[in-house]
Amino acid sequence: MFGRRGNDDVGRPAGARPAPASSQQKTVDAALVLSAKPAEPSAPVTPRRAVEAPPLASEPRQVQRERNENYYDTKSQVFAALIDTIDLSQLAKLDPESAREEIRDIVNDIIAIKNFAMSIAEQEELLEDICNDVLGYGPLEPLLARDDIADIMVNGSRNVYIEVNGKVEQTSIRFRDNQQLLNICQRIVSQVGRRVDESSPICDARLPDGSRVNVIAPPLAIDGTALTIRKFKKDKLTLDQLVKFGAISPQGAEVLKIIGRVRCNVVISGGTGSGKTTLLNCLTNYVDRDERVITCEDSAELQLQQPHVVRLETRPPNLEGEGEVTMRDLVKNCLRMRPERIIVGEVRGPEVFDLLQAMNTGHDGSMGTIHSNSPRECLNRMESMIAMGGFSLPQKTVREILVGSIDVIVQAARLRDGSRRITHITEVIGLEGDVIITQDLVVYNIKGEDASGRLIGEHVSTGIGRPHFWDRARYYGEEQRLANALEAMEKRAD
Ligand SMILES: Nc1ncnc2c1ncn2[C@@H]1O[C@H](COP(=O)(O)OP(=O)(O)OP(=O)(O)O)[C@@H](O)[C@H]1O
Ligand SMILES: [Mg+2]
Repeated sequence: MFGRRGNDDVGRPAGARPAPASSQQKTVDAALVLSAKPAEPSAPVTPRRAVEAPPLASEPRQVQRERNENYYDTKSQVFAALIDTIDLSQLAKLDPESAREEIRDIVNDIIAIKNFAMSIAEQEELLEDICNDVLGYGPLEPLLARDDIADIMVNGSRNVYIEVNGKVEQTSIRFRDNQQLLNICQRIVSQVGRRVDESSPICDARLPDGSRVNVIAPPLAIDGTALTIRKFKKDKLTLDQLVKFGAISPQGAEVLKIIGRVRCNVVISGGTGSGKTTLLNCLTNYVDRDERVITCEDSAELQLQQPHVVRLETRPPNLEGEGEVTMRDLVKNCLRMRPERIIVGEVRGPEVFDLLQAMNTGHDGSMGTIHSNSPRECLNRMESMIAMGGFSLPQKTVREILVGSIDVIVQAARLRDGSRRITHITEVIGLEGDVIITQDLVVYNIKGEDASGRLIGEHVSTGIGRPHFWDRARYYGEEQRLANALEAMEKRAD
């Protein structure tokens, strides 16, 4: 059979070879990591459980099943014998399906020869685990196959957390050791031509399916490599689904649709993972199909449905510290690309200035997201980003720019029960002296919580009948729809 060095080898205790399996394992693992996977991100690796995964409903149980020390012990023995047996360079030449078959055959033999006592189900689980280790993302595979997970957070080899339904929970998933975890991280980032190790311990990357990845390795991560994955959702949430989840009321959603359509300049503000990018994506659905839209992102997450979209992505510096393309470079460049709208995935620094300039120089309907906890804080943050960017402008001028540029701030939040809600739709209406005046159109009022700890609340209109962007709505023929939505919300509140 392919790749074998003979069955005798299988029975021989790992370590009896001149280069013992245990010491070889780490380097071999790393070599495999780089060779066994196709380097081309556009050619996704088939073994990603999409094909073979058991039905979704059964997976969570499988993942959660407690694995005792015995299991990990058996696994490392089988793994060591496997590494000692197969010819890795040959394996790397096979397509993933055949490689998987090959590994399964050998592992079955190892289990039989070494006489490990295990049930068929356990054996199947071990086989899957080992195939994942060699060909895929190891222990992460079952988590990556699940669609209900928003984030995967790995804190060193022994602690893996996931976010499901807005709640963070610990899983029983473990890596063999820190080296295996680092190898898997290396495998992930090498697919986008990057490297993570002690000399460059911070790295952003993307999985072939589009999931956003961040790795920070030791010595910066003190207790072992920390890996964070924001799972990519192929079917992005829509505004109607957000209504179904209670993130916004139907009338509030109607107001947002109008805001998206009538080319208000919008900033979406919210904490980490509060749903900003999701909301931005939803709003872009209401951009007219004939508009030319340019998106700038650190890691392409947005999925615009319009035909005329140019997607741009920043680039970190290479190992020599050269070649970086910042968000500011992208936004500035956008202005020379005849955009009608500019969408900035996440505004973190001085690019805010360029975005604001674009907003008030004829690129109405531009949008961006910002990390902040309230509409007021969002304005303060933009002010400080401008100050930190080295623009020495008087405070009043900065505020005039803010007021002249931004029409609406939409605030997203993840509440303590894990639910994500839009808590404010706020207009920026002007300056009074040195103070920026805002008015809330819609706010989310929390009324209490039910027996299961879920927060109860509702979206209410603050009674503003004619928002500041009324004329704009009228220009697009949307004023009646806007009036109806606001009126319906007021009635609900009565
Ligand atoms: N209203 C919602 N209800 C349920 N899930 C949601 C909702 N909004 C977003 N999500 C999910 O929450 C996760 C985080 O959303 P998203 O990426 O939009 O957050 P973010 O604020 O942009 O995060 P980050 O600050 O990391 O960029 C995603 O998996 C998304 O599908
Ligand atoms: Mg985001």
